Formats: sequence, structure tokens, C-alpha cells
Amino acid sequence: MPSSSGFDLAAARRALPILDEVTYLNTGTVGIMAEPVLAAHLAAVAQYERGGHVAEEAARQGYERARAALARLIGVEPDEVALTRNATDGVALVAASLKLGPDGLVLTTDQEHPAVLFPWALAQRRGRGQLSFFSVSFDPDETYRRFVRAVRPATRLVVISHVSCETGARLPVEAICSYCRERGILTLVDCAQSVGQFGVDLRQMGCDFATGNGHKWLCGPKGTGFLYVRADRLPLLEPPLVGAGATAPPFDRRLLGEDPAAAPWDFVASARRFEYGTRNLHDYAALSAAIEYLEGFG
Ligand SMILES: Cc1ncc(COP(=O)(O)O)c(C=O)c1O
Repeated sequence: MPSSSGFDLAAARRALPILDEVTYLNTGTVGIMAEPVLAAHLAAVAQYERGGHVAEEAARQGYERARAALARLIGVEPDEVALTRNATDGVALVAASLKLGPDGLVLTTDQEHPAVLFPWALAQRRGRGQLSFFSVSFDPDETYRRFVRAVRPATRLVVISHVSCETGARLPVEAICSYCRERGILTLVDCAQSVGQFGVDLRQMGCDFATGNGHKWLCGPKGTGFLYVRADRLPLLEPPLVGAGATAPPFDRRLLGEDPAAAPWDFVASARRFEYGTRNLHDYAALSAAIEYLEGFG
């Protein structure tokens, strides 16, 4: 029977057989994969693992389909999306890439996940940035007022969750991003608890960077995530690591010559600059399947 919101709830529950055994309430940690998505996942794993190089092109297409599906879901361009292993990766990449002096303040909240706190704690240890805090209220207007009071002239970046993993409080991210944009302060929004739970439009939100994952509310494969970098903010991020696939022009031994340090290569001019080496392309095929499955509910 279709529910009042138009989809067949019983069929949706049948696609999640563990619900016969338990009431599953831990989607905010790892979601459970619907059977049709799992079938696509297993097929993609089998195809790539059996075919290796023969299946490489198909696997790569699946990987790019996931990037396109994610970009569509969060309202940005595929070139602005780096595919990562998890939400923590996205925060860690920004923390390791953004040039910040020791006095540059990184303003965050008292309800952040270790995914936010550790990368910035490490950056601070290494002399880049200094953490400062404001506290989250269940009242978004009060959260906003506390945020404004906590901003200092030295505040360079604001890092906030879209939805707190501690209390479920939803932060007034649009208002915070708008305030920051008007004052030249950068914003990084941790969307680990929002993407897949409700509609998220990053362009409308107005953040500079955002991070999220595929394995929570999107009910996609474990170990999949994304980092969004607004196109015009890309030059601000110099990746801490590099390898084949992350450079332009692509690797050519003749170009590197005898002195790779002096060779005229640069990071690729898209968020793909954070991706290098052999990757788990097949897992991402299932991420686009998960997104398309959820989109099917309307
Ligand atoms: C708000 C928030 N940020 C980040 C994370 C970490 O996500 P991941 O394990 O994908 O790095 C979580 C996980 O629970 C979270 O709730």
C-alpha cells in the first residue's frame, strides 16, 4: 500500500530485511543498504574484481556517475566534488590544505564530532590556526546570536555541523554562512548528519566547503564520502598529498624530466586534486545506486 507521502512503505521495509529482526535506529552512524542497492554494489564489486583492467573503464564510469549523482543531490557542480572515504577525510583535507597562520582563528561549536575537532587540533599543533568555540542552542536564533558574539577580527574560518551529532540540533547554517561571506570569513559545513536525511542545497546554503559521507543517511556503501569545494575557493586549498591522477598535465615521465620538483606540473583544476592512485571505484558505483534509490521515493 502506498503511504500518504506516495511511496510503498511495506516494500521499502522489505528491502531492508534486518528490520524483521531489529528496530534500526543507528542510521546516523552507519545506515543499512536496501537490497536493490546491495545487488548493484555486489555486481559492481564482482565486475571490477573479476575484470581488473578489462573492467576499469566501466568502474571509472560508475565512479564518475557517483560524483554526478552527489553533485546533483547537493546542488553543486561535479568538478566541485572530491570523492573521499568518509566525512572526516573532508575536514582533514581542508585542515591540512588551507593556509592559516598561528593566529588565525577557527571558530567551531561545543557539539562537534571528533571528525572536526582532531583535524583542527592537529593543525593548531602544527602552527596553523587556533580553535575557538561557541555553544549551540536548540533555538537557532539563539545559536546565531551566540555565533555572532564569538566572531573576532582574527576569525578566518567557521566550521560547523549542519545537524549536531550530539543533540540533533539543526544549526542556522544559511544565516551563519551569509554573515561570514559578507565579512570574508570562510565556512566549512559538516553535513554528515544532514545529507540524505533531508534536502541539502549547498549553493543555497552559501558555504565555501562541505563534507559528508555515503554510509549514514544515504544508506550507501561504507567508506564513501565527499568534500565539496566551491569552484572559486579551489586555489585556497593546496593538497597535502599528491599522486597520479591529481595533477595537470597528467603524469608524463618526459615532462617530469630529471628534476620533478622543477617540472611545470600543478594540481588539477577541480576538486579531483584530492584523488590520486588506485581507488575503490566499484564502491562508488553503489553510492550512485543508493542516491538514485532514495530519489525514487520522491
Ligand atoms: C556530525 C558528524 N561528523 C562527522 C562524522 C564522521 O563521519 P565519518 O565516519 O564518515 O568520517 C560523524 C559520524 O558520526 C558525524 O556525526
